[in-house]
Amino acid sequence: MANTAQRLRVAEGQGERAPLPKRTVPSMQTVWPHMLFPRPAATAPLVFPFDQPHLRYRYFARNAVWDAVELLGLAGKKVLLPAYHHGVELEALLAAGARPVFFRVDSQMRCDFEDARSKAADAAALYVIHYAGFPQDMEAARSLARELGVPLVEDCALALLSRDGDKPLGSTGDVSVYCLYKTLPVPNGGLLLARGEVAGKLSSLPDVSPAPLTSTTSHLIGSLLSNLELRTGDLGRRVRQALRESSRRFVRRAKIERVSTGTQHFDLGAVQLGMSAASHLVLRNQNYAEIVERRRRNYFLLYAMLRDVAPPVTGELKPGVCPLFYPMAVEDKAGAMARLLARGVETVDFWRLRHPALPLGAFPEVDQLRETVLELPVHQDLSPADAEHVAVCTRELLA
Ligand SMILES: Cc1ncc(COP(=O)(O)O)c(C=O)c1O
Repeated sequence: MANTAQRLRVAEGQGERAPLPKRTVPSMQTVWPHMLFPRPAATAPLVFPFDQPHLRYRYFARNAVWDAVELLGLAGKKVLLPAYHHGVELEALLAAGARPVFFRVDSQMRCDFEDARSKAADAAALYVIHYAGFPQDMEAARSLARELGVPLVEDCALALLSRDGDKPLGSTGDVSVYCLYKTLPVPNGGLLLARGEVAGKLSSLPDVSPAPLTSTTSHLIGSLLSNLELRTGDLGRRVRQALRESSRRFVRRAKIERVSTGTQHFDLGAVQLGMSAASHLVLRNQNYAEIVERRRRNYFLLYAMLRDVAPPVTGELKPGVCPLFYPMAVEDKAGAMARLLARGVETVDFWRLRHPALPLGAFPEVDQLRETVLELPVHQDLSPADAEHVAVCTRELLA
């Protein structure tokens, strides 16, 4: 079933004549107004990784990757990195002076630690990525790192709140990195978690600088408008479109420079940025257990309706896993995205772009993943009816 990236042809012309949907199911979770009101910190129980002692909050996860190189002294040294990566973490490693060496990831997004071992001569660190919340085999990773005598960097940018059974992802690495805005409705936020000997060196890193207020405000407004559309449908969409246009004009005229999140490239000019106070506030106003529960519920709803035509490329959703999205394989990603959007379903083209440092054809399974994997939303804002709508539209598309 899910162990092959099944290639599905998008039915020509499907959905194009369908009437415009009343509202769009957003690809990302949105901020709800109540999340912007302070409440006593004690009422929000801390969960992993926020309950850990040695943390450093950053504007982006890429800044935390930069910090990891500094903490572990990896400049000029070889780092074993999965061939399947976003590209911006690779840029952060390169900019910080590390020398990445790629190892294989299979068609189900599993790191091949045997391949890593075969390339490990002189390696100074092992870097592992959990894709879409699905855990890698961290026992194998730890044992390879131990054997090589190198630190383990656990990249949980796509795996906040996820667990392998009872074990939180990010609790094995010497250093772990999280992106907060991919799972939570914060306007910005990345996190570095350090353990063991490395933890003592956290204070040696330079102070972070404050997140720019204009960027934080504009991300928050965008997310609030998305939320309005989610709740009110057509009306919200019109308000959102109108405000979007005028705010674009305003930003252009006032020459406001936004530090955008979710971009493809590492910017040295933003490397010192920390996380905004607004993000800290939103973090305190989350029900983390409910987020995990809803994401799993929505994932299972999609799975139940799609497993015969579009099984997830990652295989089974094990206990504890908090899925970031439902990864389906489709032959014509751009066509599928456009047709789903026409039916009111926003999707994300997962990692199509290959960083030029990785030669095309060196890892065929990874090339295939880049070409085919589409993110279907399962986030916490989706009701069961929304998830069903996503599944129905996807089935129609593949009919
Ligand atoms: C695996 C991985 N690591 C790190 C990052 C960097 O995250 P950020 O956008 O917060 O810098 C990303 C971004 O998509 C990612 O996918």
